[in-house]
Amino acid sequence: MKTTLTPGVRGEATHRVVSAELVSHYHPEAPPVFGSPFMLMLMEHAAFNAILPHLDVGEQSVGTGFEFEHLAATPAGATVIARAEVLSIDGRRVTLSVEAHDEHEMIGQGKHVRHVVEMARFLKRIRHKIEP
Ligand SMILES: CC(C)(COP(=O)(O)OP(=O)(O)OC[C@H]1O[C@@H](n2cnc3c(N)ncnc32)[C@H](O)[C@@H]1OP(=O)(O)O)[C@@H](O)C(=O)NCCC(=O)NCCS
Repeated sequence: MKTTLTPGVRGEATHRVVSAELVSHYHPEAPPVFGSPFMLMLMEHAAFNAILPHLDVGEQSVGTGFEFEHLAATPAGATVIARAEVLSIDGRRVTLSVEAHDEHEMIGQGKHVRHVVEMARFLKRIRHKIEP
């Protein structure tokens, strides 16, 4: 992790909502609006992008904490922009504020924690779950 990873570092991710991300895709009786897990994923992408330039070779960040509110509904075809900003760093634990907007309004906000991990060590730890 580089010393450039400091509070105030920002990242962004943009996405056009597709029909497979509507709640109605999974529950036909539900409204045809952007599902919360997909909004969270976009927030995660923004946080990932914020941290990425500040990692050393062999490191990656993984999501470990999520606390968010879905404030407004968004239909298919809309463009959603998620933004993340680093609030604090405690060892390998990075806390970010996250928010998402469609073309009309803020649709979500929250806090997200990511851990910076050494990829080799991380993958070694799950090897027994892959190999019988
Ligand atoms: C991030 C994660 C490895 C941290 O595990 P943990 O149980 O807190 O860590 P442990 O107690 O086993 O490890 C002890 C220390 O080694 C660190 N550590 C563990 N794995 C590590 C790795 N691969 N690279 C570097 N450090 C690591 C931990 O951060 C911890 O440091 P700390 O005491 O300073 O906090 C674990 O919570 C995890 O794998 N979560 C799932 C993340 C995920 O899959 N997200 C979805 C994909 S983005």
